[in-house]
Amino acid sequence: METPKITDDGTELEKHIDAIKRLKQERHALVLCHTYQRPEIHLIADIVGDSYALSLAATKTTHPIIVFCGVHFMAETAKILNPSKKVLLPTLDAGCGLAETITANGVRAWKAQYPGLPLVLYINSPAAVKAEADIICTSTNTLKAVEAAYGETVLLAPDKNLYYNTQPKTRKKLIPWEGYCPVHKAMSVDMLEYAMMLHPDAEVIVHPECNPDVTALAHAVLSTSGMVDYVKASSKNEFIIGTELGLVQMIQRMFPEKKVYPFTEVSKTCDNSCVCPYMKAVTIEKVRQALEKDRYEIAVPEEIRIKALAALQRMLLLGRDT
Ligand code: 13P
Ligand code: SF4
Repeated sequence: METPKITDDGTELEKHIDAIKRLKQERHALVLCHTYQRPEIHLIADIVGDSYALSLAATKTTHPIIVFCGVHFMAETAKILNPSKKVLLPTLDAGCGLAETITANGVRAWKAQYPGLPLVLYINSPAAVKAEADIICTSTNTLKAVEAAYGETVLLAPDKNLYYNTQPKTRKKLIPWEGYCPVHKAMSVDMLEYAMMLHPDAEVIVHPECNPDVTALAHAVLSTSGMVDYVKASSKNEFIIGTELGLVQMIQRMFPEKKVYPFTEVSKTCDNSCVCPYMKAVTIEKVRQALEKDRYEIAVPEEIRIKALAALQRMLLLGRDT
């Protein structure tokens, strides 16, 4: 998929923002926004957060309409958790490269090779796969989910880098699925070393979807919300942050007195390789159209929803690791 431009034409921006604010009031709509979204989407959001925080928000809202500025699996999760609400995803191009690595048939065949073992499933997966899981996790609570699963051997899917980051922290044996996030996988150790050479005093914090050679060089491996908390609490002034550019930019806006850098390619910043094209498929114009034209409404078949809900509710009972 081609990477869209990071910001829209400024001349149109104000018009769209004003229209969205009016439409939100008229329609009693709640706008949820993932931290990786474009900066202008953050401006019109009611709640900005990670996938765990947005899932919680979806369970609690009384608004009849949720506009989910994030990716498809997140909007599906909101629908599973709060089925009486109309959940709108502004574009169907907002998929997830990691969620595409796993299907319900694939996971059923995999589970059949390991009868009786529990499946801990990362939330970045389709609803039909969630229906096959025992417990869902996000990067905020993977370890808690693994420890909560019954037995000493646990299936963990679909992100293999999450497996590499979690296995050393538990006595249980984890069996991984072979999936990756294409965006975090592209953040290479060469890019990190170049960024470290340019900013030798910076602390390095990276997401657990990054490759093991990258996490090995990091001062901390953290979920997206964990990164925000880390920068806030740290007495350091410079950080290299290994995750999607939207969060790097958000942290810089939150802490203007600190210096925050993305991974860096030789002679240029990682504006392309650290950008998730799925997240950036949501534009301000598409958010406006979602509210004007009621699109695109997310539906989850009831038999899938009920099973996926049980696995998601177990996750929400856990709370966060980080
Ligand atoms: P969070 O679960 O931290 O929100 O991250 C979602 C994601 O897509 C990471 O690539
Ligand atoms: Fe999916 Fe990776 Fe994009 Fe997150 S950054 S939404 S895991 S493709």
